[in-house]
Amino acid sequence: MPDIVRFEDPSGGGHPVELTVFDVPADTPDRDQRVTKIPEPDPYYVDLGMLYQLALVEEVRRADVIHAPIHVALRGHMGTGKDHDLEQFAALLRLPYFRIPLTGEVRDITLIGSTKLHGDGKGGTESRWEDGDITRALRGPALINLSELNAAGAETLFGLHGLLDRYQALDLPTGETVRLRPDTRVFGTMNPTDLRDYAGTQTLNKAFADRWVIWEKPFPSVEEIEAMLRMRYPTMKEAFVTTIARLAAEVNESFTASDARTRVGTPMSLRSVLDRLPAGLWMYATTDDPLRKSWESLVLSHIDPFDRDHYETVWSAVARRGPEGPPFE
Ligand SMILES: Nc1ncnc2c1ncn2[C@@H]1O[C@H](COP(=O)(O)OP(=O)(O)OP(=O)(O)O)[C@@H](O)[C@H]1O
Ligand SMILES: [Mg+2]
Repeated sequence: MPDIVRFEDPSGGGHPVELTVFDVPADTPDRDQRVTKIPEPDPYYVDLGMLYQLALVEEVRRADVIHAPIHVALRGHMGTGKDHDLEQFAALLRLPYFRIPLTGEVRDITLIGSTKLHGDGKGGTESRWEDGDITRALRGPALINLSELNAAGAETLFGLHGLLDRYQALDLPTGETVRLRPDTRVFGTMNPTDLRDYAGTQTLNKAFADRWVIWEKPFPSVEEIEAMLRMRYPTMKEAFVTTIARLAAEVNESFTASDARTRVGTPMSLRSVLDRLPAGLWMYATTDDPLRKSWESLVLSHIDPFDRDHYETVWSAVARRGPEGPPFE
């Protein structure tokens, strides 16, 4: 019996999508290592709708009605959960997950591969081809996440053009052609460059961008943040859940505001909301104002000095004083 995963549309409306999970065939050369790269499902993951969207693309792909793969890139601000979505999609479909960061430093050699010299055991050397990160991933079933797509230099990305269009293959300098397998998926993530600067990113080359479907990942809403906090910290008191969710949503709304004099310059990421602030609540649980203490020591300490006033404006508008402790039941 094949395993089937069912994806429901969280907003209602759409039809449920049922997908058979992937299999790593027994003859995959690096099978033992590859299966260890299948991610574990995160018990605290809240699907805000992205998994269903990804499942719709997968369904069309399997129906073979388009005759060309569709590659999706998720674009959103820091800590909105782009990489987490792709990792969880891989977990559900049991695909080995290869996250390959494309920083400005990364070159064809690391991604595609290079010829290296090895000792031949007789005092001389021989040259041998060694796969780079992408080539290695392409040799078996994989969900490849090219993260920080817009951080890599255009020259590096040109090497991937063929892989991502109709040609669906990578030509190695050795003469070998590595094809995109029917059980391999390529995705990407990136930060937006239009609103604020992310050091080291640039606008995507138009021809490269045209090889992707680019989906925006917005900041989570108050209700969505609350759902994530409740899922992860079932004993957190309601007043803390709602106040943290409002703080984050308002900081992020201020980040997108048009008036440069009053807007905050750094958004509040889900790492602040789900990891750092709750850690502070444990650390300062018995103090007079646990939320205020964690705000100071784990949020404000994190942002640029010029931005503190903007953050404090949001704090005053939302909280003034944190809820009565202790924060956890
Ligand atoms: N849907 C979700 N449910 C629960 N937790 C989530 C969800 N999405 C993201 N998180 C948590 O938020 C944090 C940030 O997620 P992630 O690293 O995927 O962000 P990102 O968008 O890739 O950020 P960056 O642009 O900075 O790389 C992680 O700790 C992750 O576990
Ligand atoms: Mg990321």
